[in-house]
Amino acid sequence: MTQPTHPTFQSPAFTSRVVPVIVITHPDQAVPMAHALLEGGVDVMEITLRHAAGLAAIEQVAKHVPHMHVGAGTVTRADEMARVQAAGARFALSPGMTDALVQAAMACRLPFMPGVMTPGEVMAARDHGFSLVKLFPAAQAGGLAMLKALAGPLGDMQFCPTGGVSLTNMGEFLKLPNVAMVGGSWLTPLDVVQRGDWAEITRLAREASSIANGL
Ligand code: 3PG
Repeated sequence: MTQPTHPTFQSPAFTSRVVPVIVITHPDQAVPMAHALLEGGVDVMEITLRHAAGLAAIEQVAKHVPHMHVGAGTVTRADEMARVQAAGARFALSPGMTDALVQAAMACRLPFMPGVMTPGEVMAARDHGFSLVKLFPAAQAGGLAMLKALAGPLGDMQFCPTGGVSLTNMGEFLKLPNVAMVGGSWLTPLDVVQRGDWAEITRLAREASSIANGL
């Protein structure tokens, strides 16, 4: 089947095992948020395309905060792949996987983490050359029990569970041998971002990274 001819997340350049899933409603929020997360030990941002400000926010971080590994999330259409790359995204994530998205990521040579929810989808991703995939939505897919079950037949695959991961369960996910990292929105709550409480973002990031680093 297809060989891994495209860059994947096999060796992510960032060190954080917690990936904040971010909705930004104004590009001006992006740079202070990036600094706040870095201050809390989180060197990766998944800025989603769920808000029109997402692309400009990626651009701001890429331009002004070089130590932050900024990527694009909620990439669901093939034409978005080149656009997020042009904005400065270093990687892309999607809640799912389509052939068009995989081809677009390969064409751009942009590291891409597709979303999966079933064993068949994990196998299809592996056929495309991916060794790290996003389990989404993780809670609805079966959470910890699902990841443990996948470790048997598909033990060569690594996962980033997202959707229902929180401060209280992230440690349990990260302890599983097939979980490389977790994603979640709890690090950047919309109300905290909108009132510009960057100290609180740093506190949330530090709280999560200390759990991840203490495992
Ligand atoms: C995602 O967008 O990837 C998830 O919806 C984030 O899920 P959470 O809000 O449960 O962390």
